[in-house]
Amino acid sequence: MRTPIVAGNWKMNGSLELVASIAEAWQTAASELTDIEVVIFPPAVYLSAAQQAWQATQIKWGGQNLSEYAPGAYTGEIAAPMLQEMACQYVLLGHSERRSIYGETVAQITAKFMCAQAAGLRPILCVGETQEERDKGQTMAVISNQLIPILALGTDFLADVVIAYEPVWAIGTGLTATPEQAQAVHADIRKLVAEHAPNIAPELRILYGGSVKPNNAKELFAMADIDGGLIGGASLNADSFLQICRAAVECKA
Ligand code: PGA
Repeated sequence: MRTPIVAGNWKMNGSLELVASIAEAWQTAASELTDIEVVIFPPAVYLSAAQQAWQATQIKWGGQNLSEYAPGAYTGEIAAPMLQEMACQYVLLGHSERRSIYGETVAQITAKFMCAQAAGLRPILCVGETQEERDKGQTMAVISNQLIPILALGTDFLADVVIAYEPVWAIGTGLTATPEQAQAVHADIRKLVAEHAPNIAPELRILYGGSVKPNNAKELFAMADIDGGLIGGASLNADSFLQICRAAVECKA
């Protein structure tokens, strides 16, 4: 049985007020949200406030990124042990915005992945194709290129990994993959993982991300290989994020 995860990626959004409003919403909702994991990725400057506000709730928190280097002279960067010190349990890696806007390479993401593992942080590794790549029938070729270097690290590195399938064309666009489209890719990802690490594939949690909203979460989460979601825009409002968490509880109960 795979425990579903609903993860909120605030990106470069949010505020102390949002940290507080999430804590408040969870005080009343906590008892309904059993058997799922809830993780929020606020901007790093809010991690300390998040730790204080959320530590008495079920909510876990994590970093949106980390450096591939050990602490040192890297202005503007955040090292894995620093996230660990903020009691982060998870870290997002390979988000398409990091890949496309900041030019993160697969080699860099693999190095970050190893730093995360060394610090005991669970990586949520994002993969996904652009519209053009999908139109050319290259979806799984693209995802294989993103995933295989990580899978090649070996089973010891993979035990805690979570994968987020985020078609780039669905991120922040209001266009969502249909449940069938998403399910097909999730099943292919699980198959790919099984070829490289057969013992982790059945338990691997694969999240869908890309314009998940309260009105479409349930049909996505109902699919067999979709183990929750990575939520951008709709995680910036306590009420809509809560509704998406409820959808995961209902579908996976
Ligand atoms: P979105 O973002 O839900 O706003 O599409 C998802 C993500 O980028 O993780």
